[in-house]
Amino acid sequence: MGKVIIAPSILAADFSRLAQEIHRVEAAGADWIHCDIMDGHFVDNISFGPDVVQLVRKETSLPLDVHLMIEHADHYLPRFVKAGANSITVHVEREAKHDVVKTLQQIRDAGCRAGLTLNPNTPFEMIEPLLGNFDLLLVMTVHPGFGGQPFRSDQMEKVRQAAKWNQSREHKIDIEVDGGVTPDNAAKVVQAGANVLVAGSAVFKGGNYKANIAAIRGAGQSARGEAA
Ligand code: DX5
Ligand code: ZN
Repeated sequence: MGKVIIAPSILAADFSRLAQEIHRVEAAGADWIHCDIMDGHFVDNISFGPDVVQLVRKETSLPLDVHLMIEHADHYLPRFVKAGANSITVHVEREAKHDVVKTLQQIRDAGCRAGLTLNPNTPFEMIEPLLGNFDLLLVMTVHPGFGGQPFRSDQMEKVRQAAKWNQSREHKIDIEVDGGVTPDNAAKVVQAGANVLVAGSAVFKGGNYKANIAAIRGAGQSARGEAA
């Protein structure tokens, strides 16, 4: 089992000095950088687009984990590939208005890792038939749109089900959890079987990014009985 991967969401960073925030979070031990893309249609918020992802790409060599909370992801995804994304995650809900199987294939064909995600109210059964079509499952533990919402532990059953898949498969998927992750719930998340933890507020709050990341990772690793 690899180490617990911490992916800070830059949605919670200070955008007036984004380049510096990227450098600081990288120096603090971030493994991936999570980029939350919101279009004001699929979710009720607008964040940033491919130009900002490209800016982030210039500032770090860490993997860029791009989470598309947008309609018509298939139309926009070449721009995120060009911007330097390493993994691109799309939503399975009908409201995302795309052919999910085709989009996942498009992502892989572009040389990126394909991620699939589902909202808290979307049943796990929606993604079950698609296993094999993606490399990363993102389990949302808040309703997407805004950072700083409380973690929903009722979503851990989905993580457990995904972990069961991995037991019986040679091609293991990453199991990522996104929304409200803190040092207080990281153990529960890793115990359920997740190996990638997205955290926005819990990384960027207070200004000590190194301590914040270490606290989340430490809680996660201890759930596996490993030292931080
Ligand atoms: C939710 C986003 C998350 C979120 C994480 O819409 O996909 O990545 O911003 O932020 P926190 O950790 O503050 O919930
Ligand atoms: Zn996200």
